Amino acid sequence: MSYEESVAAHYGRDNIEDQLLAAVRDAGKDPDHFSPADLHGADQLHMGGPAATARVAARAGISAGRRVLDIGSGMGGVARHLAHEFGATVHGVDLTPELVATARSITRRTGLEGSVTFSQGSAVALPFEDSSFDTALMIHVGMNLREKDRVFAEAARVLRPGGVLAVYDIMLLGGDIETYPLPWAETAETSFVQPPLAYTDALEAAGFDVDLEAKTVEEGIAFLEQAVAGDAPVGLDGQAVPNLMAAFRAGILAPVEIYAHRRA
Ligand SMILES: C[S@@+](CC[C@H](N)C(=O)[O-])C[C@H]1O[C@@H](n2cnc3c(N)ncnc32)[C@H](O)[C@@H]1O
Repeated sequence: MSYEESVAAHYGRDNIEDQLLAAVRDAGKDPDHFSPADLHGADQLHMGGPAATARVAARAGISAGRRVLDIGSGMGGVARHLAHEFGATVHGVDLTPELVATARSITRRTGLEGSVTFSQGSAVALPFEDSSFDTALMIHVGMNLREKDRVFAEAARVLRPGGVLAVYDIMLLGGDIETYPLPWAETAETSFVQPPLAYTDALEAAGFDVDLEAKTVEEGIAFLEQAVAGDAPVGLDGQAVPNLMAAFRAGILAPVEIYAHRRA
């Protein structure tokens, strides 16, 4: 199995859509016609959920009519949020076939298929023409990316000059990760967590200028405490949750946002 196949196997559970539709029914809504907001973030697999998505979108300058690429779009919750709340046109690309199928189905059920589309593929070879997007997002994906330099080169290619790339990942602040599983990997084999400096160096080399870097460890800890109490996105469960909390508290890992724009 290639490492990308192992990553897709990690995320590709069978009953993801059923779990999301159960959350819609629990909210008292019709599973065939509902608003993206009715999922209350069950479809957004990153620290801070929809509140973090809204912050990243605002910092990345996303507004009505923007063409946005969501790299590693998962269940599609971020893409639908950006279309529904910000009026953007969003295309998501993701490695895991089960997640792409779920993202498409949920998007159809929310009536957003005119502005939110998905394709299955890898971030290292984006299936788009040069300069196709105004903005690209990559949220909690880099922990699984061995070749970040290739991914950032691809992001630079598909963004127009001046286009913004927002990266929001869990990054390495100090020390070594000793305890697995973590939410993105069962073992060190598929975990490629790196320090912010490795990201900013790779971004500069790929043709970006870095504008802003921000850590949000308190939000991450609060989000994991909520998950332990039973309020978690689909896929954030098991021993990975306390393991990640311990790594946040020890200062080994932290959620970090980096914003950069493509040099003209
Ligand atoms: C933790 S989830 C985050 C999903 C989404 N960004 C969100 O915030 O809800 C990580 C996602 O990255 C995807 N992924 C991992 N490696 C990838 C790659 N090389 N290319 C595209 N997607 C990838 C996984 O399939 C998974 O859907």
